[in-house]
Amino acid sequence: MKILKIILVTGIVGLLITSCNNSSENEKKAVIKPGITKTDWGVFDGKKVYLFTLVNAKGDTVTITNYGGAVTSFKTPDKNGNRSSIIVGFDSLQPYLQHPPYFGALIGRYGNRIGDAKFTLDGTTYQLSANDGKNTLHGGLKGFDKVVWDASIASDTVPELTLKYLSKDGEEGYPGNLNVTVHYTLTNDDGLKIEYEAETDKATPLNLTNHSYFNLSGNVSNTILNETLMIDADHYTPVDSTLIPTGEIKAVKGTPFDFTSPKKIGRDFSAVPGGYDHNFVLNKKDSSLEKVAELSDSISGRTMEIYTTQPGLQFYTGNFLDGKFLNHGGEPLIQHSALALETQHFPDSPNKPNFPSTILKPGEKYHQVTIYKVKLSR
Ligand code: BGC
Repeated sequence: MKILKIILVTGIVGLLITSCNNSSENEKKAVIKPGITKTDWGVFDGKKVYLFTLVNAKGDTVTITNYGGAVTSFKTPDKNGNRSSIIVGFDSLQPYLQHPPYFGALIGRYGNRIGDAKFTLDGTTYQLSANDGKNTLHGGLKGFDKVVWDASIASDTVPELTLKYLSKDGEEGYPGNLNVTVHYTLTNDDGLKIEYEAETDKATPLNLTNHSYFNLSGNVSNTILNETLMIDADHYTPVDSTLIPTGEIKAVKGTPFDFTSPKKIGRDFSAVPGGYDHNFVLNKKDSSLEKVAELSDSISGRTMEIYTTQPGLQFYTGNFLDGKFLNHGGEPLIQHSALALETQHFPDSPNKPNFPSTILKPGEKYHQVTIYKVKLSR
């Protein structure tokens, strides 16, 4: 009798577990509908702000707001199958309005610094807004990270978002009406693809990028100094005390800037006063889309590959993060709790004739692509 009871109970429990498993499987299958959804996030400058959630076929997600075009999260599974965000950010609009240091944002017109906030083009000297001492940084006082972009969705079953912004002639001191379009796509192999397009009616410097801060472990209390980085760059551009490149293109070999083979970020860190905040001159020879860097983290088992059409990569170890802002889960974002790998042209190119040109002329079409692709390490 007792044995019969045990068999019966075990059977029922087994059935329950199987049906639970099936239902959660079904639930999982039912929930994973690739596409994009939109929720209201508030109003800024009289324009509506939204949060868009892009979901791919695996159920991984990216959230993006049209305020500053900021990526607010990118959730992928770790080696135990737990999803967490590898990009830092906030869950509401309010903290973004407090001017965080460009978390996840689109940067323009000019990513990074232009020395003395001025440049001369075709005989005219343009004075830009100085917002970093005497220099201009990331577009000036109100760069592309602080404006509301027009958002559109081609189809709600495709995880792709298009953002547009018209930067008017004279904005922040830059010449020309510049029409910018950015397409964000979440691919089924966990690639966050960012495609930039622009056209102008007057020649202007242009250097668009995205300023996402990553912590691959998904937990900003783990320092990024323990993550491992490879950058396919034999050279970098050394900087002066205000972080303006000196103009030299210097070999990384034998210096702390050598990431040509995967290296723990913290390994040579003490030899870089203030931390890494430098542009790397990528080895790629043309504007084709190529893999240029790889970041990996042993805690989560995640690896992120970076592909780009751009000639440079700004590697920044979050040296100025001061704990003022709290990440999604409420954890303070302190020094080295996240890092940025910004694909771009070199800082201060408008004043450095030996750097690749960043001038976009009327009639030309600006086009750049970057993909941040996340996978589990083998
Ligand atoms: C710059 C840093 C700056 C950071 C946030 C990076 O791209 O290189 O110097 O502090 O952005 O503003």
